[in-house]
Amino acid sequence: MKFRTQRISWLFFATCMLLLCLQIVYGFIMGFAHMGYDVLHDYIPFNTARATHTNVLVVWLLCGFMGAAYYIVPEESGRELWSPKLAVVQWASLLLVAVTAVIGFHFNWWEGRKFLEIPRPLDYLVVINVLSFVLNIGMTTFTGKRYTTTGMVLLVGLVSAALLYLPGMIWFDSQVMDSYFRWWVVHLWVEGVWELIMGAIMSYLLIKLTGVDREVIEKWLYIIVGLTFVSGILGTGHHYYWIGAPEYWLIVGGVFSALEPLAFLGMALYGVTMARRGGRKHPNKIAMYWTVGCGIMSFVGAGFLGFAHTLPSVNIYTHGTLVTAMHGHLAFWGAYAMIVLAIISYAMPQMTGRKFFDTWVPEWAFWISNIGMLSMTCAFAVAGVTQVYLERRVGMDFLEVQAAVAVHFTALVLAASLFTLGILLFIYDFIRYGFPSDEAVEGAAEPEAAAAK
Ligand code: HEM
Ligand code: HEM
Ligand SMILES: [Fe+2]
Repeated sequence: MKFRTQRISWLFFATCMLLLCLQIVYGFIMGFAHMGYDVLHDYIPFNTARATHTNVLVVWLLCGFMGAAYYIVPEESGRELWSPKLAVVQWASLLLVAVTAVIGFHFNWWEGRKFLEIPRPLDYLVVINVLSFVLNIGMTTFTGKRYTTTGMVLLVGLVSAALLYLPGMIWFDSQVMDSYFRWWVVHLWVEGVWELIMGAIMSYLLIKLTGVDREVIEKWLYIIVGLTFVSGILGTGHHYYWIGAPEYWLIVGGVFSALEPLAFLGMALYGVTMARRGGRKHPNKIAMYWTVGCGIMSFVGAGFLGFAHTLPSVNIYTHGTLVTAMHGHLAFWGAYAMIVLAIISYAMPQMTGRKFFDTWVPEWAFWISNIGMLSMTCAFAVAGVTQVYLERRVGMDFLEVQAAVAVHFTALVLAASLFTLGILLFIYDFIRYGFPSDEAVEGAAEPEAAAAK
């Protein structure tokens, strides 16, 4: 760690660990409910569990991105964070909003718009919170010693993510219009600006971990950003097929979203090529696992499984079924959860000065969680395809079909238990690292510096 204030990110990373646990608990509640054991129904009905599960996911990923930014931006711009105090206040207030929202969901205080369930008054607090975050990161960048492509892509990604939250806050009486703009947030986040954030964090990690020249790594980043914009913006159309939007979206959405996997293929090749070129010099090979793994799994979950249901001729059958949940899990895991776990795995030894990356714990955490998530994806896939067949081809009633696929949720819960074991190992390691320490400032040797010598 080069600057003392980088340690602020620990607060955000610790919050990620806590919220991930909470998300998993609600995942299990839904898994059991699908199996027929909806025993908590009177206290936590399915809609509450689902809103909590998905919103907590988004919050912990945003927390991870913010932690990553507080760690990366000082280093990329060559100065301490502009205002560490503001960062701590911002962290505490974000946590407060998240906790309020989760409690609110349990008392039916929610908006019922998938992924944007947070009630309007809390939205305004989120906006203020994110503005203060952007101000801090922006001031650090613009008063810094240098601008780097990695730092700028990260900043542009974060600022655009903040701006894109706003269309989701416009009030419409029309359900069609509401849905139309809701996708500006949900789609343009995960298949647009979040990819910039992911690409920038990957670029930072690859520079640190492989020792390959920054110029080479950042050239790839430009290509990925280009591919993302070319395909992702009009790709939004794949959510406009059946909501009452004009018919031309069938062709526009179909064509452009079919190109989206290219950006994720780029991420996978990026990771693998740079790792091979750099000969994996850095001792923290577990951070390398998560970085390259993220590139590969994002391609499988977002690129490949996204493509699997993006054409209108397929989506007319799979829309809103468990096939969507299959893709949603591996895409979110591969792209965004894994990049957050990658930066945590890299930053923890740097911030604490302790080097636990050689032990079996983080390695098993990586393999077990990934095998667990792949198995969960398979369980959702089997349930989803069966659902599509029985409900949309055979014409069986929705609830009858749900009973028929209940058996696949036993498999889901077993796979999820494996996944959870992996995550618990990761968290065990996180706790073992302890708190950041001043002695770690300018501590461990960086291969980037070594390569420059
Ligand atoms: C990391 C990137 C991605 C993430 C995190 C992600 C996640 C999700 C999630 C959570 C949903 C459900 C949304 C909802 O119904 O509210 C969804 C839907 C969808 N995604 Fe993705 N996705 C990603 C990338 C992609 C890509 C690259 C494609 C296409 C090639 C794609 C195709 C689709 C389609 C067609 C749907 C609609 C499914 C339906 O009709 O029910 N996704 N995605
Ligand atoms: C132990 C772990 C988990 C279990 C048992 C679990 C289970 C579930 C279930 C049953 C649903 C609801 C599907 C439905 O609507 O019927 C769901 C939704 C969802 N989960 Fe999980 N989950 C787990 C972990 C995760 C993780 C780690 C992520 C992300 C990295 C994730 C992302 C999602 C998303 C994005 C949705 C919404 C999908 C959609 O819109 O169709 N889950 N989960
Ligand atoms: Fe999309």
